[in-house]
Amino acid sequence: MSYCLNTTENYHAHELDTLGWELTVCNALYPENSPCRNILKTNASLGVSLYRFLEKYIPFPAVRDILEIGGGMGYLLRDFLELNPDLRATALDISPYLLNQQKETLQKYNVQFMQADALKKDVAFFNTFDLIIMNENMGDLPTLISQKGIVPSPTEELAFYQNKASELNTRYCLNFASDEIINIGALLLLENICRAGVKYIYLSEHSCEAAVPNTLRELIYIAPAGFPEKISLKGHNEYTIKFSHLQKIAEIFNYKVHRGPIADFLPVEFSDKLAAILHTKIPATDEQEIIQQFVYDLYKYEYLILIKQS
Ligand SMILES: C[S@@+](CC[C@H](N)C(=O)[O-])C[C@H]1O[C@@H](n2cnc3c(N)ncnc32)[C@H](O)[C@@H]1O
Repeated sequence: MSYCLNTTENYHAHELDTLGWELTVCNALYPENSPCRNILKTNASLGVSLYRFLEKYIPFPAVRDILEIGGGMGYLLRDFLELNPDLRATALDISPYLLNQQKETLQKYNVQFMQADALKKDVAFFNTFDLIIMNENMGDLPTLISQKGIVPSPTEELAFYQNKASELNTRYCLNFASDEIINIGALLLLENICRAGVKYIYLSEHSCEAAVPNTLRELIYIAPAGFPEKISLKGHNEYTIKFSHLQKIAEIFNYKVHRGPIADFLPVEFSDKLAAILHTKIPATDEQEIIQQFVYDLYKYEYLILIKQS
């Protein structure tokens, strides 16, 4: 099979000058008066809800050094540092624009900022952290797209990633289908972090294996794709993530895996009013459209909490 490569590196490093059009769950929930908060059982930002959820799995008093990769506006890290001032935080982002936003959001806190591509950092770098957070950024990393027909000979970068895919396939028995779209960047980044033996890892992203519970199928429709799906955004394309591959790599590195939809820690209050909004085919207001998208995202995004077993 031949491939081409989808990357967002150039876009994030050189073109991105707003995250406004890309309404992440974190940003959607940040304003205290966000309509998205009203449909949840907990009226809180993503950072606060996530921290409270992680406390069930992670003994925070044992966590000092935390790295957030791709923190966007920096809201999640701000919540974590508010709740736990003992954390020593590093924020790494490929985008100079977003790193500046993080510097502004986090100016009151003692945070080390690094502009870098997470894929270019080595095992020794990750090794120094107790907890690594990657919220909604794995889909931005390089993806191999299978191509039919005659294709030009691969560039050096494409050949590099194709070789890596073949190595990972053998090393972790991932059994890539011959025409599979491969989240090669996400797989390589997680492999590096697991190899570094980081004790706690949290990641979440759009999943191509997400499923809605039977009881909610009337209200929320998520097609079970099973393979990474393209998401077209301003200036770049992303791909949903095949979580079972990430899970397999983590398990081989002896991590205990907790996996689920982010609705696990952002539980929805399914009122009659919300049901009516979700049933509406054409939303009457911008707010209804935002809520429809938000509820869909709560089930389309999966998370992994990975805990290294000694
Ligand atoms: C969709 S935004 C998510 C932002 C934030 N985590 C949130 O949930 O709102 C993706 C983030 O990942 C960063 N990013 C993308 N590719 C990256 C890479 N290779 N290395 C480091 N950061 C990257 C982007 O600059 C951006 O901050």
